[in-house]
Amino acid sequence: MNKKTVIVYTSTHHGNTKKLLDAIASHEDVELVNVIGNEKYDLSEYDRIGIASGVAFGKYYPQMLEFLKNNLPENKSVFFIHSAGDPRKSHADSGLKIAESKNCRCLGIFYCKGFDTFGPFKLIGGINKNYPNEENMEQAVKFYRELEANI
Ligand SMILES: Cc1cc2nc3c(=O)[nH]c(=O)nc-3n(C[C@H](O)[C@H](O)[C@H](O)COP(=O)(O)O)c2cc1C
Repeated sequence: MNKKTVIVYTSTHHGNTKKLLDAIASHEDVELVNVIGNEKYDLSEYDRIGIASGVAFGKYYPQMLEFLKNNLPENKSVFFIHSAGDPRKSHADSGLKIAESKNCRCLGIFYCKGFDTFGPFKLIGGINKNYPNEENMEQAVKFYRELEANI
């Protein structure tokens, strides 16, 4: 049976992370909720909660971390998706820590490059100009489908 899934997201820099989510949502039955404008949101009805964000100063955006503290229920299955200028798996740690404090189970972490014009990068026209690219979006869909298969 299909698990009821939502992905909550913050993607304020260039909409990079949101591109990955739109690719997933165009193929799969998943709801997307922008945390900006939905600071209070009832997630209790969902079986799985995706947590997706751009990265600032090594962490998920502060609005996302605040949202998770206030809204993530206990004992859920969660997964993480992020894009960053210099993407690392450990960028999810900021969100993972909050999820673990609520006894949530991590199903997986997906991350890729995103266009970045922060600070000095702006002067050179940004880095990772065409990212996430088509391949990244296909990989994100595959990641999501494999979550399905594992449950
Ligand atoms: C204020 C700020 C700080 C950032 N800090 C980092 C960082 O510490 N590490 C990194 O890899 N990328 C960093 N980035 C780049 C973004 O994470 C990257 O461009 C990401 O793809 C943005 O996603 P979004 O368009 O979904 O918001 C930063 C960007 C901004 C605007």
